[in-house]
Amino acid sequence: MFKHTPFDLTSKTVLITGAAGLLGQEHAKAVLECHAQPILTDIDEAELGLVASQLSNLYPEANIRQFVMDVTDKGSVINVHNALASTDCRVDILINNAAIDSKVNDTASLSNGTRLENFPLESWNREINVGLTGALTCTQVFGSEMANNGNGGVIVNIASDLSVISPYQPLYKKSGLPDHLQPVKPVTYSVIKTGLIGLTRYVATYWASSGVRCNALSPGGIFTNQSESFVEKVTSLIPQSRMANANEYHSAIQFLCSNASSYMTGQNLIIDGGRSCW
Ligand SMILES: NC(=O)c1ccc[n+]([C@@H]2O[C@H](COP(=O)([O-])OP(=O)(O)OC[C@H]3O[C@@H](n4cnc5c(N)ncnc54)[C@H](O)[C@@H]3O)[C@@H](O)[C@H]2O)c1
Repeated sequence: MFKHTPFDLTSKTVLITGAAGLLGQEHAKAVLECHAQPILTDIDEAELGLVASQLSNLYPEANIRQFVMDVTDKGSVINVHNALASTDCRVDILINNAAIDSKVNDTASLSNGTRLENFPLESWNREINVGLTGALTCTQVFGSEMANNGNGGVIVNIASDLSVISPYQPLYKKSGLPDHLQPVKPVTYSVIKTGLIGLTRYVATYWASSGVRCNALSPGGIFTNQSESFVEKVTSLIPQSRMANANEYHSAIQFLCSNASSYMTGQNLIIDGGRSCW
């Protein structure tokens, strides 16, 4: 339906990291609607296969590729690059989406492990490796090619509303626990998402003259049947009084990936029901 509009991505390839996850597959649908060829990558081979076959059923005409790729392993990223190159396929658009969403769970709360004072360095390193270093590695491998091949390209970094606001920790409060044992959203998520905005600005200016645009998308939280009490608390922080539906970022992805955003680079598109205004 986007043929011959600025949103048309016909013949463009879009490599998505973390494509087997909740939002990764939505990004794939968004670009498929614009006639792009998605390259689905994820560390989870089984889920990746499922998502790829579901998308192939939904879009039988589309050319959908899939690769197991670990963004924390540069060799794995280069292998995918080389496999694509061997079939004369180059990446036009990269969506850095893979992340570990550090869950605020009961075990962590009991061991006091999410709190800043005790946050384990192993968790810090593991999460930053995926969400931030992984984005850098993919940018190095696929972005360099975009910058060098004369055709330019587009990079979209998936950040979060927590790239511009701090987590509201009372959201995670559990009754019956003293303050010093209360679970919190770990520091890594804020650091990774804020760091991605820095990476976005850096890459945007670094490769602007090579025709590579780089922007971030900062989504607000998606409703996935979280507990009633959590939803009630979080929606009270959102002017639009609800969490997002998983498909509500399609049009932002279509905009950022296509010529519709041709004069936009280095920016952070925040779509959060207004949460960051309060
Ligand atoms: N879900 C939300 O409410 C929400 C809100 C704001 C931002 N985001 C961001 O959107 C992105 C996607 O989130 P999601 O909710 O779909 O998460 P998800 O957990 O459903 O998906 C993440 C995917 O990343 C993959 N992954 C993990 N480690 C990897 C690695 N080393 N290499 C390659 N892939 C790896 C996982 O296998 C998984 O399929 C994340 O960057 C997240 O921070 C999500």
